[in-house]
Amino acid sequence: MKDLKYLIDKLKTQRSLTRDEWTALIVGRTPELAGYLFELARKERHLHYGHDVYVRGLIEFTNYCRNDCLYCGIRKSNPHVSRYRLSEEHILDCCRIGYDLGFRTFVLQGGEDGYYTRERMVHLIERIRFRHPDCAITLSIGEKSREDYQAFYEAGANRYLLRHETFNANHYSRLHPPSLSAAARQKCLWDLKDIGYQTGTGFMVGSPYQTPQDLAEDMLFIRELNPQMVGIGPFIPHHDTPFSNEAVGTLELTLFMLGLLRLMLPKVLLPSTTALGTIDPKGRELGILAGANVVMPNLSPTGVRKDYALYDNKICTGDEAAECRQCLERRMESIGYRVVTARGDSLNL
Ligand code: 5AD
Ligand code: FES
Repeated sequence: MKDLKYLIDKLKTQRSLTRDEWTALIVGRTPELAGYLFELARKERHLHYGHDVYVRGLIEFTNYCRNDCLYCGIRKSNPHVSRYRLSEEHILDCCRIGYDLGFRTFVLQGGEDGYYTRERMVHLIERIRFRHPDCAITLSIGEKSREDYQAFYEAGANRYLLRHETFNANHYSRLHPPSLSAAARQKCLWDLKDIGYQTGTGFMVGSPYQTPQDLAEDMLFIRELNPQMVGIGPFIPHHDTPFSNEAVGTLELTLFMLGLLRLMLPKVLLPSTTALGTIDPKGRELGILAGANVVMPNLSPTGVRKDYALYDNKICTGDEAAECRQCLERRMESIGYRVVTARGDSLNL
């Protein structure tokens, strides 16, 4: 077995690899290499963020979506989803509950729902901004025009999450309907950065047809974009999608990619995602130990949680916000980390 340790060392000193080196490292990874990687990744993370874990309160405010991504459970052509959207008052209630639990970042996530027009979003953002001047407002509502993004920003949104999903245009087209393109997705990300958002991108690990070369291209793209956040998690099939019979992404590869991301962008905010917690009972703890430093418990009302199923067996769909918050606190403490209440802005500027 070829020893690829030198590539991890190179990544640590130069913060980048070539496409072929990324591919070789991903293909040739071993448990020993992973152990070495995680050790370096943790060191890097402790240097910048210590043992603090930031929490974001996730509010899944609408599961209406005009898109039809082949992997996603709330795709428009899934007739079995019971569709909901929370009213502005209901969303503000979620924020208040979250604030009282110590959350200082609210992530408004939803499908691409035509009801939430620019005007309605601006109104909502302004009200949250007015009520919670000390909190960060993160949006995760998909592809919009640059003018929309600008208007949300001016209304008080600070951060935006939009995973690029996969950089390679060919791979992208196999995961999405023809109406969506990798280029359009990436343009949104450049717009968001240009406007001044703390921007998050990311991808699924083990999505159908994904090759190590695709992952290498994802790393190159992320390096170029230099985002403030990177969200990755395993692909998990949803029973009502065209990918219902595809294999689930592995814990092992997801953790390896987290470690690589931490070494490539030492100061990036890296969530240990719910999808990771879904494929393994200790997934989120292991994600933190591989270099992640953010968790995003659910603040959505319990009544609608099960309806925001992007994939099967999603965890926490029956738990109150306070329960999730406490559960994560205990989980993080069990591995020597602590959940903190700070806004947790990215140090990757
Ligand atoms: N498995 C894992 N992640 C998924 N996402 C959507 N569907 C799935 C799935 N089946 C991810 C996408 C999206 C984010 C909100 O959730 O990467 O950007
Ligand atoms: Fe939701 Fe553990 S984080 S129950």
